[in-house]
Amino acid sequence: MSSRWTWLGVIATLATACGDTQQADDILALEGDATSGEAVFSANCASCHGADGTGGSGPNLVAEAGEDDAEWVEIILGGEDTMPAFVDVLTDQEIADVLAWLKS
Ligand code: HEC
Repeated sequence: MSSRWTWLGVIATLATACGDTQQADDILALEGDATSGEAVFSANCASCHGADGTGGSGPNLVAEAGEDDAEWVEIILGGEDTMPAFVDVLTDQEIADVLAWLKS
């Protein structure tokens, strides 16, 4: 009986993992708008990463922007260590916009 729940758990985990990867791919395929991205950044990220993105309690993002967009999207969606997850806070387009602004 318990094995049935184990399998349900495995399936749910796989479905979630695939969903995240798909969402990251969707974001990477979007064209970001740097002007909107600046507003998203000041409202959600500047408190830790500095008003201009060059760092605060969180790391300097401007210095490394564009080096690995795929990894950054995963971190923004899911968080990392004390970096909060934004999967339920920002839309795909807003995340694409922030990335565009950091690179501009
Ligand atoms: C509460 C503070 C906080 C907020 C708010 C925050 N971050 Fe972070 N962020 C961090 C910290 C701390 C790290 C370093 C995490 C680690 O040690 O792995 C980080 C790491 C990152 C990284 C990975 C940097 C690297 O060099 O690997 C990215 C990208 C990032 N943040 C983007 C954002 C964006 C975009 C926002 C706004 C949508 C945001 N962060 C909001 C604290 C924050």
